[in-house]
Parts: sequence; C-alpha cells; structure tokens
Amino acid sequence: MKQQLLNIKDALLSELDSSEKAQKLDASALEALKVKYLGKKGELTAILRSMGSLSPEERPVIGQLANKIRSEIEAAIEEKRAAVAEFAKKKKLELEKVDISAPAKIPALGGKHPISMIQEQLEDIFLGMGFDIAEGPEIEQEYYNFTALNTPENHPARDMQDTFYITPDILLRTQTSPVQARTMEKTKPPIRIISPGRVYRSDAVDATHSPMFHQLEGLVVDKGITMGDLKGTLDLFAKTMFGGETKIRFRPHHFPFTEPSAEVDVSCFVCGGKGCRLCKGEGWIEILGAGMVHPNVLRNCGIDPEVYSGFAFGMGIERIVMTKYAINDMRLLYENDLRFLSQFN
Ligand code: DAH
Repeated sequence: MKQQLLNIKDALLSELDSSEKAQKLDASALEALKVKYLGKKGELTAILRSMGSLSPEERPVIGQLANKIRSEIEAAIEEKRAAVAEFAKKKKLELEKVDISAPAKIPALGGKHPISMIQEQLEDIFLGMGFDIAEGPEIEQEYYNFTALNTPENHPARDMQDTFYITPDILLRTQTSPVQARTMEKTKPPIRIISPGRVYRSDAVDATHSPMFHQLEGLVVDKGITMGDLKGTLDLFAKTMFGGETKIRFRPHHFPFTEPSAEVDVSCFVCGGKGCRLCKGEGWIEILGAGMVHPNVLRNCGIDPEVYSGFAFGMGIERIVMTKYAINDMRLLYENDLRFLSQFN
C-alpha cells in the first residue's frame, strides 16, 4: 500500500510534466488532475477507503503517509498554477499582437454624385456673377407654388395628376420658382438670387422622367432690369458651363410667371451646331426656361411693377448633367450603382 501511495505521487508528477511539455497545461487541465488524484472518486481516496483492511499497527503509518502525499500533490498542483497563468497571458498577448509595420488598410472614400458636382459648378458660376443662394421648403404651400406665381386656377400643372398634394393647400413643390415669391416677399430689391433644390412631379419613372428631380432657379429684380440683362447673364453662364464658343438662342414660349417668356437653347458643344447624336441633329440643346418677371407676380409679392422689373430663369439640373456627360437614361442617376458613379471621380 505504501508503494501504491508513492506511485500515485509519481504518476501525478509525470502527468503534470508531460502535459506541460505538450503545452496542454492550462487552468482546466490542472483542475482535472486535481479531481483525478484527490477527488471523491480519485485514486488517493480509493486507497484511503481500503485502509480498513490494515492491521492496527500499519494504519497510523499508512495514514500519515497518505496525508503527506496528499499535501505534496496539492503543493505540486498549486505550484503549477502560477506558471499556467503566466503561460496563458503570454499566449493571449501573442494573439493580440499588432504589426505596426504592416501597411495601412485605406478605407474606400466616397465621391461626389454627378448631380452634386454640376449643382456646385452652377452655384460657383452664379456666385461669381454676384448672386446669393436662397432656399425654400420642398413641402410647399399651394399659394407659393402656383397662386403667387400667377398660375391660373385651371392650369394643367395644378392637376392632381401632375402634382403631389398633401392637402388641398399643401403640396410637394413642382418647381423651384416658389422661392422667387418667398424671396420677393421678404427682401427689398435689388434682388439677385439662385435657388437650387429638389422638386417633385407625379411622373412615372422612365429614361427622361423621375418623380423627384432637381432644378436651379434664378431671379433678379431691380430698377431698369431688361431682357438684355437676362440675355447677357445666360450667355455668360452658357459660355462658362459649356465652353467659350457656346451660343444661346431664345425661342418664344409661355410661362404664367414671366412675360415675355422664352425657352433657351445652347449650341451643341459636341458638334458646334452642325448636328450630331448628342443634339439629335438639331445643333441646339434646350436647357432652360426664362423670361421677364410678370407684373402680377411682382405685385403679389409687394413689389411695385411701375418702379421695378426683373428677370427669372429655371433649369433642370439632371438635364444639364445628362447633356454634359452624354447620359441617355436618367435612371442611372438614381440607381446608386458604383460602376456608374465611380466614373465621375
Ligand atoms: N418653373 C419652370 C418649370 O418648372 C421653369 C422656369 C421657366 C422657371 C421660366 C423660371 C422661368 O424662373 O422664368 O418648368
């Protein structure tokens, strides 16, 4: 029995040793060894249980030895605990090691959307001519979108089919023109503003229509403003935007809020006016509507048309983007396909 006890201790020591060498000694392995040797069903306990069969002289001798072995086993296990903790820490540090010499991962940076790029170019051009930027709400009163702008009660644009109404008096603005009325109401002339922003129309999506798109409005009001000022301003704009050779052309048109009114074309900057695919053989590309502010609009906004006159213009930003980049389908601008968008940066 004495030999059995000594064997148990040797067995434990060699097990400790070999699992340490195999790098398998961790806190749970230590606990398992403790249970295996000292636990209720452990090897030492089994020997102590069989001590009943010993002679009265042998019993205290073996008992003493068993206690000694038990505390030696405990001590050997405890001794390893510190080493195990140290080892675990080292392993963890190794796993968390940061290679500070590794090349940095460069995050993919986004770029500007072509609509934003063109909008900013337009803003720069007009800011350079002394215009300020004015803003107005996208959820607009029917009054500013139509009534103040001299739009007759039965005008087709007022139709539910064309305009998103929220209530009979509140709608999603169909144009940036209401910013004209809002600006004239609260500012005395001289007024020189542009107003870019989103507008909404009840249109089905196709290659040339979207229920949401962008416009840029322009308004100048002062004493003695003439159609010559409008032409000069748009001519400079067209040359800056499309190139110094660009010419503009006014075609008579009708808008309720201007009189006279015109649609304005620029000479095609690809073929110079001879006719090509971009201008569909026309030599000209329509880019905006414009005119002299209607006296009724001035009056509606508290400005005396006998003293002041003004001009206004409005252009679709998508149209300019599509013309400049020869994009033939408007949907490309809204689909957020990176293969398309990344071409602009
Ligand atoms: N608001 C017009 C539209 O959406 C565009 C326009 C035409 C604006 C003539 C103007 C203008 O300021 O004078 O079709």
